[in-house]
Amino acid sequence: MDEFIARLPKAELHLHIEGTLEPELAFQLADKNRMKLPFTSVEEMRAAFNFSDLQSFLDLYYASVSVVCSEEDFYELTLTYLKKAASQNVKHAEIFFDPQTHTARDIPMGTIVHGISAALKDGQSQLGISSKLILSFLRHLSAESAMETLEQAAPFRDHFIGVGLDSSELGHPPSQFVKVFDAARQQGYHVVCHAGEEGPPEYITEALDLLHAERIDHGVRCMEDPELVKRLAAEQIPLTVCPLSNVRLRVFKTMKEHTLKQMMDAGLLVTVNSDDPPYFGGYVNENFAAIQDAFDLSQNDLIKLARNSFEASFLTDKEKQTLIAELPTTSV
Ligand code: ADE
Ligand code: ZN
Repeated sequence: MDEFIARLPKAELHLHIEGTLEPELAFQLADKNRMKLPFTSVEEMRAAFNFSDLQSFLDLYYASVSVVCSEEDFYELTLTYLKKAASQNVKHAEIFFDPQTHTARDIPMGTIVHGISAALKDGQSQLGISSKLILSFLRHLSAESAMETLEQAAPFRDHFIGVGLDSSELGHPPSQFVKVFDAARQQGYHVVCHAGEEGPPEYITEALDLLHAERIDHGVRCMEDPELVKRLAAEQIPLTVCPLSNVRLRVFKTMKEHTLKQMMDAGLLVTVNSDDPPYFGGYVNENFAAIQDAFDLSQNDLIKLARNSFEASFLTDKEKQTLIAELPTTSV
């Protein structure tokens, strides 16, 4: 099955570029930029990847990424991820970046966007992996800060296709960000939203009704509300689920307790993604392998998940069909 998963063409739709920083690269960049990480070695840093909840992870994630400073650093971070993704047969990636994390430490928006974008371009030409960029607002900061960020990003609008909302979910409902999402939609951006990871099912409903989210990132807590499940299934709203992340951040105690299979059985448009791979113990193939093992998924289930990843992407119908045609045909 691992071999089958490795060969399966797939799209990754929920990946934070800041969350792809491997400890080895973190130490290299810290050295280069004459900065200090709160760890003495790669091993010590990796050993700290033991989280009690979302916030305990976010604290470490924001501290670690402070060593990524120049356009070249953003380029290297992004190209390193794309090489790994290409090696796992990811054909297309839709990647979040959190500009406020960097502009708060006086890194210009242009440095961030140009570094990431240059790597995405080389990822296409050198590795054959297509990609799109999604600007994600930090929900622990104010709605005014999100609006300012959208304005700062306006000169770079050709570089990203959508906006999202991430960071600490509890206490920061989508309803606080209606204005900035309205503005983004009016400017023609796609709209997605983290909801129902740690937050209640009502946040998913708010993301749909108030922000008009086209995709829900995580969304696993929808299973607590049968009416919401019916709606998500009827409207085929994609959910970008991140199984290893959910277990490492204690949304579920074990992989066997994850509701992914129940979500598939309920007719939801589920996709499998890695979120912040080094922190949670795996890239997309390790996520596929973990759920295959926990739920004894068949090859057909895995093909369905890969097909969903293309269907749920922001590619054109023609591009989706081309990628879907590369999937193995369903076995009996
Ligand atoms: N930022 C990076 N990973 C995240 C996650 N899983 N939830 C919310 N914000 C994030
Ligand atoms: Zn996420």
